[in-house]
Amino acid sequence: MTQTLTLTVNRQAHELAVAPDTPLLNVLRNDLALNGPKYGCGLGECGACSVLVDGMMARACVLPVSAVVGHEILTLEGLVIEGRLDPVQRAFIEAQAAQCGYCLNGMIISIRALLNHTPRPSMAQLRAALEYNLCRCGTHMEILEAAELAVT
Ligand code: FES
Repeated sequence: MTQTLTLTVNRQAHELAVAPDTPLLNVLRNDLALNGPKYGCGLGECGACSVLVDGMMARACVLPVSAVVGHEILTLEGLVIEGRLDPVQRAFIEAQAAQCGYCLNGMIISIRALLNHTPRPSMAQLRAALEYNLCRCGTHMEILEAAELAVT
């Protein structure tokens, strides 16, 4: 059964009629046309769907939309402020870290979440932040380079 819920996404309030157990990912992609978060596994295991909820990384494919009412949701699109990319996004471009690019949403969101509370992380902390993000092309080394670049 649908309910009217208000979500704050990328600094804007949205009133939506949705079933409360709908995964946040579906709402972001289907109702708000925010396609930065990707559908990968749908099981909370690959990281492709990651978003920030109150600055922390969350897996949108397994998060019921009702759980994020009253919280600040930021997607990859929301990292861009007045046309300026987030430094993490710039680092990924500069490092040419993408192959197919499907995983990069999750990689960038995970690094942004880490930097939000640890501005000068060690390499071990960067690796740990990306530990549960999968890249099927195998560009993990380039992704780590980009993550390092985002810190410098
Ligand atoms: Fe959500 Fe894989 S699609 S973790």
